Amino acid sequence: MDHQLQPVEIAPNIHWVGYAEEWAGLHCNPYIIEDGEDVILIEPGSIPHFSSVARMVSQVVNPARINYILVSHQDPDLCASIPRFEEIVSPDLQIVTHSRAAVLLPHYGIKAPYYNIDTNDWKLTLKSGRELKFIFTPYMHFPGSFMTYDTKSKILFSGDVFGGLSFDWSLFANEFYPEAMKAFHENYMPSRAILEHSMNKLRKLDITMIAPQHGSIINKDIGKYIDTLANLECGDYLFVD
Ligand SMILES: [Fe+2]
Ligand SMILES: [Fe+2]
Repeated sequence: MDHQLQPVEIAPNIHWVGYAEEWAGLHCNPYIIEDGEDVILIEPGSIPHFSSVARMVSQVVNPARINYILVSHQDPDLCASIPRFEEIVSPDLQIVTHSRAAVLLPHYGIKAPYYNIDTNDWKLTLKSGRELKFIFTPYMHFPGSFMTYDTKSKILFSGDVFGGLSFDWSLFANEFYPEAMKAFHENYMPSRAILEHSMNKLRKLDITMIAPQHGSIINKDIGKYIDTLANLECGDYLFVD
């Protein structure tokens, strides 16, 4: 049976608008940031999730106010529903992503223009002056993968990184989450060296919360989770005949 949940405000004017299914090991974690005139929808999800996520979004904001959709890469679980969202969001919509993903995303039928982070100084400044900074995390697990750091809330929207694979899901990470996270990264991330390269970038940031695209939100022991990934052996499929 599917869960129909309510939006959860994880910080002022930042909501989780996700969708959890008991049968799925991967859960959909879209988020909305509302900042005055700007409304950013982060990683809206798949086509089967569209009606549920759109309903959740509508409980938080008028979808017609959404003027940015941000995606860390082009996997269908996080962005296949964008053409459906284009029918209900602002006509001024821009897709915020890396140029490597921007060449693939049009294949979903997305029509909106792109705001490429790598040619915009790795940041997006909202009308209020609030800055979203982008942290390049190449090959995790896509060449153009990146994370989004909101300088106001100090939340790190981490895409697939820090995601978890588990059939015992909770919105906030519990004591079992490190194992769920390891299970996902060992398969999906190519190597420990690549993970460590990105984890070292994160150590310079003041992070209050890590909000991944699937799995659970990490709201304590941030440093311990970074250490766990920095030391994790990955690329499991290299060892399969
Ligand atoms: Fe992915
Ligand atoms: Fe994913």
